[in-house]
Amino acid sequence: MFFRQRPAESATLSYFFGCAGLAKAVAVDVVAGDEDWFIAEAEKAGARIAHVIDTHVHADHYSGGPELARRVGAPYYLHESNQGRVPFEFEPLTDGQRLEAGNVLVDVLHTPGHTLDSVCLLVSDLRRGNEPWFAITGDTLFVGAVGRPDLAGREREMAARLHDTLHRKLLTLPSDLEIYPGHQAGSACGAGLSGKPASTIGFEKRFNPMLTMSREAFVEALVAETPSSPVDMARIIEANLRGVVPEPSTA
Ligand SMILES: [Fe+2]
Repeated sequence: MFFRQRPAESATLSYFFGCAGLAKAVAVDVVAGDEDWFIAEAEKAGARIAHVIDTHVHADHYSGGPELARRVGAPYYLHESNQGRVPFEFEPLTDGQRLEAGNVLVDVLHTPGHTLDSVCLLVSDLRRGNEPWFAITGDTLFVGAVGRPDLAGREREMAARLHDTLHRKLLTLPSDLEIYPGHQAGSACGAGLSGKPASTIGFEKRFNPMLTMSREAFVEALVAETPSSPVDMARIIEANLRGVVPEPSTA
């Protein structure tokens, strides 16, 4: 398989990976303005972009996902809970769904907490093994931190949901599973993120301070450390829900 992690604006980490042999690629959390980079990487790999996914409707940067999908003729995916909320056509992702890109498989986990529509992606390479090799964890689990729970309000309830998601869906995965988060240090989507852009489930279980607390302590700690809201958040969410990025002069 091929795999690229792209550090992008707003301390975002985007992903481009896929199957070289069968020439199919997946793009995840594309930042607006980076569409050409993904198209160039696909050309280098000799692969067609088969799936364009956002792990959630972002609040801190404009998504380039809808535009990339239009340009390459690929489906654009968001979690199914966005049906009725997003006025343009997208492919709804459901918990347990599997997407295929040649020998690379992507299993969808619905992981509410940072937002209600957050998903994580478990990625397998059948040329290496039939179990997931790594997880793209979006803004659910970062290296050394977790996603902020407050962006849509009800922060305590969402913090509790994030605790449940982490302990029931992510920390039950094998310790040697690699994790690739949606942000690194400098992001407004969480507090205390490492500048190292990858880790494993096992290392985070041992050393991520947010993962060793009781549910009550986790909610208190997370609410107490919430960073200030992303700049232009309302306008960014509104644009991402419409799938249309404003011209640079108005952005
Ligand atoms: Fe986010």
